[in-house]
Amino acid sequence: MLNAIVLAAGKGTRMHSNKAKTMHKILDKPILEHVYDTLDKLQCKNIVCVVGHGREEIEDYFSDRLTYAIQQPQLGTAHAVMQAISLKEKEGKTLIVNGDCPLIQKETYQKMIEMAEQYDLVLMTTKLDNPASYGRIVRNNDSVEAIVEYKDADEQTRAIKEVNVGIYCIDNQLLWKYIGEIDNHNAQNEYYITDIVKVFKKHGLKVGACCFDDFNQLQGINSRLELLNASKWLQKKTNEYWINNGVTIIDPDSTYISTDAVLSIDTIIYPNVRIEGKTVIGQNNIIEEASCIINSKIGDNNHIIASRITDSEVGSNVTVGPNAHLRNNCKIGDNCRIGNYVEMKNTIFGKGSKCAHLTYVGDSTVGQNCNFGCGVVTVNYDGKNKHRCTIGNHVFVGSNVNLIAPVTIGDYAVLAAGSTVTDDVEEKDMAIARCRQQVKKGYGFKYLNK
Ligand code: UD1
Ligand code: CA
Repeated sequence: MLNAIVLAAGKGTRMHSNKAKTMHKILDKPILEHVYDTLDKLQCKNIVCVVGHGREEIEDYFSDRLTYAIQQPQLGTAHAVMQAISLKEKEGKTLIVNGDCPLIQKETYQKMIEMAEQYDLVLMTTKLDNPASYGRIVRNNDSVEAIVEYKDADEQTRAIKEVNVGIYCIDNQLLWKYIGEIDNHNAQNEYYITDIVKVFKKHGLKVGACCFDDFNQLQGINSRLELLNASKWLQKKTNEYWINNGVTIIDPDSTYISTDAVLSIDTIIYPNVRIEGKTVIGQNNIIEEASCIINSKIGDNNHIIASRITDSEVGSNVTVGPNAHLRNNCKIGDNCRIGNYVEMKNTIFGKGSKCAHLTYVGDSTVGQNCNFGCGVVTVNYDGKNKHRCTIGNHVFVGSNVNLIAPVTIGDYAVLAAGSTVTDDVEEKDMAIARCRQQVKKGYGFKYLNK
């Protein structure tokens, strides 16, 4: 069994921010969510997230997706681990993970976990030409003896190139047996989890280090510059993956694709496009500049131009935009047209229906092969409640029609342009709801020359 403790209670002073450090985003997800999703993929059973500084923000975002332990005040990384006491009786290994290391890939963890079968404690390490303030790995004839923090290290120790990444795989029973022996006699007067190495060695336990050389994925994020570098690396890696799997990305530097999105072959993505969340995009789509697609499902052969689509589904052979907005659970059928400045919300729009210009359709069900003229508005909100419009198949909605919801329109009905429709219209009927025109002979010319 694999347990995990994620440390995310620190202040993150070097970010210069009011936000909790681990809530800063890389692509579309907070740092902490990247960490958590990887642990989830590793099938960790019991994950405890230690929170303290900025914990309200973390708890608001994740709510009951995470199990929390509160560290207040924050007295160092070992003190943070101690707060996950609910794991004390658990069997197996525990991963201790710095919450600010979001890019470590599943395969990297797996190698370390495999190695840990032979040890009581395994550290993840890397070698750096410029090891900066990372904790140094002190070895004696290859065997790992200690981790020494930069602030506590002498010149000779600072010269060591192998550093602590901040990820540990440890026997859970031994962790809880010995963690109390860590003290805070160091430069920062903090309880360091890194001192668990010394404690384990003292008791004759087996400590190993699993050294990796891809620093990009191992780096901890302490400053906004490190956040930027991490974002750029993940963006590039994700885009290259899709390029190698049949997607054309015209300008990868300005294209941002979530690590949770799935794309298909022959889709072309123009510059300045963002694809976020668990979006799924089918084959042969063209997604033009300034489009943003979030948590949505897009079929095949669509053409999306400068539009925003959130939490919605689009079928196949649909054109969307320029400047359309589909949001909050829209379902657009095949062969539809959603044109310029059209907004739809919580609406089912049937196969082959068209809505080409300047229209708002909210809380509605629209059948197949309908045509909406320019400037149609479903008046779905009466100031207190939202109501639905239900529109059948083959309905023709003239330009500038207001549908005052709730209202039901039957198949093959026609709503005359400019009508404000307040009552149901039965199938095959035509509704005209506007004043008859009056014409005053010659009065226009007289008016203009007054
Ligand atoms: C830590 C390691 C260092 C390692 C580096 C890798 C220690 C003492 N040092 O240093 O050896 O090279 O990570 O990135 O562990 N946290 C808490 N409670 C606290 C203090 C910190 O939850 O009281 C959390 C932070 O939110 C952060 C993580 O622990 O997510 C690491 O803390 P941080 O202060 O960033 O440690 P580093 O100085 O980077
Ligand atoms: Ca750190």
